[in-house]
Amino acid sequence: MSNENYKIGVAGAGVMGSGIAQVMALSGCEVVCRDIDEEVLNAASSSVDSGRFGVRSAVERGKLTDEEANNALERLRFTTETKEFDDLDLIIEAIPERFDLKVSFWKELDETASDRTIFASNSSGFPISAMAAATERSDRFIGWHWASPAPVMKLAEIVRGRETSQETVDTVVSLAESAGKNPVVIADTDTNWGYVTNRVYFAMVKEASAVVSEGIADRDQIDQLMTDCFRWPSGPFGMTRGATSGWK
Ligand SMILES: NC(=O)c1ccc[n+]([C@@H]2O[C@H](COP(=O)([O-])OP(=O)(O)OC[C@H]3O[C@@H](n4cnc5c(N)ncnc54)[C@H](O)[C@@H]3O)[C@@H](O)[C@H]2O)c1
Repeated sequence: MSNENYKIGVAGAGVMGSGIAQVMALSGCEVVCRDIDEEVLNAASSSVDSGRFGVRSAVERGKLTDEEANNALERLRFTTETKEFDDLDLIIEAIPERFDLKVSFWKELDETASDRTIFASNSSGFPISAMAAATERSDRFIGWHWASPAPVMKLAEIVRGRETSQETVDTVVSLAESAGKNPVVIADTDTNWGYVTNRVYFAMVKEASAVVSEGIADRDQIDQLMTDCFRWPSGPFGMTRGATSGWK
């Protein structure tokens, strides 16, 4: 599939939304990134351009040509306008991890977005089927969980809701591949928060915290041990700090 003329909306221009918008623009899609906060949009725009994981830095590191970077910037717009989401092929939501916020976001959007628009949530762990139930398009509703920083990390944890259609899964998998990610399609979670990555990760953090409270080792020591033993880029505690700051 060529992504040319494929129109994507990204809701939220924070740590995740700005990176997701950048990646999708680089993959050839037309992208409009919307936030309710003008200052966040300005910061997102400069981070995509000249931030640590932005396109200029990718050019300096030889990962992109100047032309690729300029073309991606031309395909990406930032806005506060809700009507910009009326006629798109796909909307990726990266607003804060609050279930009530996400449900009302999707419910409102379902009224105004085109029927053809696929809804994809970058939630870190809320059941996809529960969010889809707020809309009349559960067949076109899917989870697409990214990792931070989005321009670097290969994660594409694709969560199939109970009613997500095969066509929706195929479209999103193909988009993720075209964006250089490694899509893995998994089943939805029912009641637990977290799909595969966060469930397994937080089980590890729980055990690491137990080790701290038993006085066996402190957090820095555990991070050091796990990094040295498993060749991870970061230990369980350092990982939490990095992800929430976009590894800045
Ligand atoms: N930070 C991470 O490492 C990470 C990794 C994977 C997934 N996620 C998930 O991604 C989502 C976003 O996380 P984040 O860290 O980017 O949060 P963030 O706080 O950095 O950004 C969220 C943005 O959404 C905006 N927003 C709020 N309501 C909105 C609306 N109705 N329309 C448009 N924009 C709106 C806010 O103004 C804010 O700028 C969450 O669901 C989170 O769990 C985060």
